[in-house]
Amino acid sequence: MRKFNVAVVGATGAVGEEFYRLFEAYDFPIAKLVPLASARSLGKTIEYRGQEIDVVELTCDIFEKEEIDIAFFSAGGSVSAKYAPCAVEAGAVVIDNTSHFRMDPNVPLVVPEVNPQDIELWRESGIIANPNCSTIQMVLALKPLDDLYGIKRVDVCTYQATSGAGKAGMEELVKQMQDFFAFKLDESPHEAFAHQIALNVIPQIDVAMENGFTKEEMKMVNESQKILHKQLEVAATCVRVPVLRSHSESITVTFDEGVEVQIDAVRQALESFENVQVVDDLPNQIYPMPVMATDTDITYVGRIRKDLYRDNILHFWNVADQVRVGAATNALRIAQKWIELEEA
Ligand code: A2P
Repeated sequence: MRKFNVAVVGATGAVGEEFYRLFEAYDFPIAKLVPLASARSLGKTIEYRGQEIDVVELTCDIFEKEEIDIAFFSAGGSVSAKYAPCAVEAGAVVIDNTSHFRMDPNVPLVVPEVNPQDIELWRESGIIANPNCSTIQMVLALKPLDDLYGIKRVDVCTYQATSGAGKAGMEELVKQMQDFFAFKLDESPHEAFAHQIALNVIPQIDVAMENGFTKEEMKMVNESQKILHKQLEVAATCVRVPVLRSHSESITVTFDEGVEVQIDAVRQALESFENVQVVDDLPNQIYPMPVMATDTDITYVGRIRKDLYRDNILHFWNVADQVRVGAATNALRIAQKWIELEEA
């Protein structure tokens, strides 16, 4: 089997670091691994298969110099905007974790279990976009339900972990908790978030839009429509919570008129969908929670119940590891599908 030269842009970040573990766990066919970050990280190393590899400074010509085949970008939108074209120019396929290219009509936006066929479009731009973390875990649960009954509308509230703001986000939560126990939370700085995150919830993620929603909320709207190829109505409220790294979502789905939701059929559709697992036994206090989803590649669904008033409305709860399902694992699965396509 062919092996590939792989670059990880954002090599020292929360998502970047997850890749090395996953490459090993998934036995990803790597010939050479090149970890790229800013000059700030020069002198640092990353660990891959028991080896220490030096971090290399990201420059436009590095992709050509290292003969990169696959470049994973997780260093923020402006870095992708500037350097993804360099990687494409050098002949690499870019798998981009930022929002920068997601809504570009020439860039496929892919969750491999949901719309693998869209990967073909990669030739248009050389880029495949990885969706927003909250969108990924939501569409993983929506797709089997849409296939079952046809979804008309989705109302979602998210409970998003600090990992969504990168390492700095997680470190800020830990530092504030330490400061709380040292009776100095009042003086604890907040830079990753607009407000104190420890012992708090913040009902804003990303910037405000003119329509009253936030940019994160509009990502969930636009990206879900693009991935599911459907103009479904989506209303999102995205909330940051003091959790380290797994997002939860409370989701209400309205199916097409005339649908009568059958809970058994819903459970079966979810359970048989790839990488989705139903964990749902309320009387025994069993349901998905961030602590159980962390460090896994599964999207867990629970609290599945019918609406009290309408036959075509369903409520449920879902949880997935933001760094893995919502970022690195999805990117890796995209790369696996891309390889299958290339090798076919
Ligand atoms: P660096 O530490 O050298 O800035 P996180 O998502 O956890 O915040 O991590 C962001 C990642 O993106 C880090 O690896 C960071 O490396 C990298 N990064 C941020 N800005 C740049 C940049 N301008 N050029 C290259 N890498 C960058």
